[in-house]
Amino acid sequence: MGRKFFVGGNWKCNGTTEEVKKIVNTLNDGQVPSQDVVEVVVSPPYVFIPLVKSLLRPDFHVAAQNVWVKKGGAYTGEISAEILVNLEVPWVIIGHSERRLILGESNEVMFFLPYLSFWVVIIVPEKFVGDKVAYALSQGLKVIACVGETLEQREARSTLDVVAAQTKAIADRISNWDDIVLAYEPVWAIGTGKVATPAQAQEVHSELRKWLHTNVSADVAAKTRIIYGGSVNGANSKELAAQPDVDGFLVGGASLKPEFIDIIKAAEVKKNA
Ligand code: PGA
Repeated sequence: MGRKFFVGGNWKCNGTTEEVKKIVNTLNDGQVPSQDVVEVVVSPPYVFIPLVKSLLRPDFHVAAQNVWVKKGGAYTGEISAEILVNLEVPWVIIGHSERRLILGESNEVMFFLPYLSFWVVIIVPEKFVGDKVAYALSQGLKVIACVGETLEQREARSTLDVVAAQTKAIADRISNWDDIVLAYEPVWAIGTGKVATPAQAQEVHSELRKWLHTNVSADVAAKTRIIYGGSVNGANSKELAAQPDVDGFLVGGASLKPEFIDIIKAAEVKKNA
């Protein structure tokens, strides 16, 4: 099938200069499978990216955790795709559930306008996450695009509808899937220690692949890596990696620890499959 295993480490909003150096030292000393077997990308907070790039082993790469939706300019506090390209940051994570749910990024753009003494929310039928993905790709970045359902949505049996709608919002905006990795991250599994079972992960991954087959193309379905995220650790990574449609991981908490090396080594499961 030729989908190279992909392991991303999302450091989120963590770290001091000293801690970052320590994590990088651990990664640099780690014995991991070669680049033909696994692609490794770590995503420090923006401000540590130059430091990490300067210290990190050359076979690992960096990702930003977010990017502005269009060309840079007067957008205080944002970082544009142009800036990431200038800093030679090859990857960016887009649509992480912490941004969708805490920061209000969604499949739609929301505008808050003052009206009399109220704030009025206007939902514009424009796809914010999809636009970000499309703009980032247009500038030459590679994208880890995240989708996933909340616990309420799973309990209401709408998981597949939710992830299909999130994937559609991206698919509607792009025509080339070569530089996208799709990350299925059930919200209820993120940072909770409640990992999806291998069967639960496989079910959604295989449905997402079918969705790509039907709605994009057979080629994109066969080639696009669909990675799992949500409480992945050194102990559970091998069994998850053994699932036929799990092509890697996006790892939060455990990516700050030495066990990230064990998670990368889970790629061997595919090699021996
Ligand atoms: P977690 O986070 O591994 O800490 O659950 C995963 C993620 O948010 O990408």
